[in-house]
Amino acid sequence: MTAIGFGTAAIGRPQYINLKSEQKTSVFKLTKFKLESIEVIQKAYDIGIRYFDTAPGYGIAEEMMSKWLSHQNDPDVEVATKWGYTYTADFNPDALIHEVKDHRLVKLNEQFANSKKLLPYLSTYQVHSATFETGILQNREVIHRLAAIKEEYNLRIGITTSGTNQNDVILAASEVIFDRKVLFDTFQVTYNLFDQQLQEIIPLFNTSGLRLIIKEAMANGRVFRNPNYPHYEKNYQICEELARKYKVGVDAIALRFVIDSIHPHTVLSGANQVSQLHQNMKALSFRLTSDEIDQLQRLKVNPIEYWNERKNLTWQ
Ligand SMILES: NC(=O)c1ccc[n+]([C@@H]2O[C@H](COP(=O)([O-])OP(=O)(O)OC[C@H]3O[C@@H](n4cnc5c(N)ncnc54)[C@H](OP(=O)(O)O)[C@@H]3O)[C@@H](O)[C@H]2O)c1
Repeated sequence: MTAIGFGTAAIGRPQYINLKSEQKTSVFKLTKFKLESIEVIQKAYDIGIRYFDTAPGYGIAEEMMSKWLSHQNDPDVEVATKWGYTYTADFNPDALIHEVKDHRLVKLNEQFANSKKLLPYLSTYQVHSATFETGILQNREVIHRLAAIKEEYNLRIGITTSGTNQNDVILAASEVIFDRKVLFDTFQVTYNLFDQQLQEIIPLFNTSGLRLIIKEAMANGRVFRNPNYPHYEKNYQICEELARKYKVGVDAIALRFVIDSIHPHTVLSGANQVSQLHQNMKALSFRLTSDEIDQLQRLKVNPIEYWNERKNLTWQ
């Protein structure tokens, strides 16, 4: 059964790459932001979420997770974090560079030393945004270190990946062997109503022990009606009709599509407020029929167009 997990990117830094449904007008206050972040994490737990995804690249998210965990005592809580991105915007909405990528061993060691504070709840340690370009999948000293971390702390080791060639990256990662054992057992990947390329390699995840975690189920907000995207009119109509039928929002239809079409281990909710989280959780209250799944599968777009459009979204 697929679970809904909570991704902490939107509660760790005030700006992220998304189509904003509403613009914030209030002045940013870090102390208030931290309190609100902890509140959303607590509410996520209260409504039944037990899988949390975070990263040092998400501003204060990892710090807030660890603060919240220091008051918990529930062995069912699982935290996945990542290494490879450093948050550099310092909460400045006008920052030119929001995050910096670094897949060298020195960054892995630096970030793991800090992320260890999530233990014993830390279950999964992921390469943040694995690509062929950074050479991470061939970097033997990094692979060696990840294998040592896996062994010593009994963690799952994963990659997150995006883009037109995410299937190739996943296949290449699934073949990385260290000490005659497969290293990567967790794959956090984009899949949604628009980008459905992951369907082609779903049989890979039937291998026992592998976990598939889905991110970007809302296609960075593109699943919601927006006058700037008239080419999605048909998608809006179909999703809104299903939303009326099941008495939920389009967000729940988008999440349910992920669950019913590929049955991942977890689909992440990236809600930035408690009300969104409640709406997202309604995805667990119904099931799509096979005709509806077929209908939604036909809404897929060309991955090249999808990722080109994604490249033009800004931090806001
Ligand atoms: N590894 C990576 O590179 C990577 C990349 C992306 C995400 N992730 C992980 O995945 C998690 C989820 O992120 P995501 O992008 O996949 O999140 P998502 O759930 O696909 O989208 C979240 C956004 O959708 C909008 N939304 C959600 N529910 C809504 C509702 N009921 N009504 C209106 N708008 C609603 C909100 O945007 P607004 O309110 O701003 O309009 C919200 O911030 C992240 O937190 C992170 O943990 C990882």
